[in-house]
Amino acid sequence: MNTIKIYTNDSEKRENVISGIMKDHVLTYEMLDMILGEYLGSGISRAVFVYKPDIRFVIKVEISSYSANILEWRTWHNFKEDKRISKWLCPIKDISTHGLFLIQKRAKKIEDTSLLPLKLPTFLSDIKSDNFGWIGKQLVMVDYTWLKLKAETKLRTVKWT
Ligand SMILES: Nc1ncnc2c1ncn2[C@@H]1O[C@H](COP(=O)(O)OP(=O)(O)O)[C@@H](O)[C@H]1O
Ligand SMILES: [Mg+2]
Repeated sequence: MNTIKIYTNDSEKRENVISGIMKDHVLTYEMLDMILGEYLGSGISRAVFVYKPDIRFVIKVEISSYSANILEWRTWHNFKEDKRISKWLCPIKDISTHGLFLIQKRAKKIEDTSLLPLKLPTFLSDIKSDNFGWIGKQLVMVDYTWLKLKAETKLRTVKWT
């Protein structure tokens, strides 16, 4: 029996068309191929590619269940206003609705480990050269999923709502 689907709005129609496209592997591959550029590497949580629409950025694809993209995004938002901390973190530009894709500034790979500083701030963890890169002359962490978050215990006056 034929049923005629009446779409309630344009966004529902859009989602239905996208679902149709996703069922076709060739279309899906070609779509990803327009977005994913050179493959830069993987860790246990993400596969990282140059972001083709703007090669000054990378796109990090979540390949684990650690929600690393979401943790990194949250950390960036927590510290981005504090330059003393954020200068060590590779800036994040955007994240997809469920955190599976993250757009981050592209850092230059560490080629010469002799240029790395001997001292680093104590809040940085998971120290290995793979997790760092250069943005100009500044060394930045490109993987700060496990950055130490310090909680303040000092009491303050609050306004209940
Ligand atoms: N912002 C970036 N710029 C350039 N290369 C990156 C960037 N982020 C990650 N990479 C490369 O991709 C690899 C994996 O990314 P990473 O964030 O460490 O993933 P994971 O969380 O799985 O360890 C890194 O070791 C690095 O080589
Ligand atoms: Mg890593």
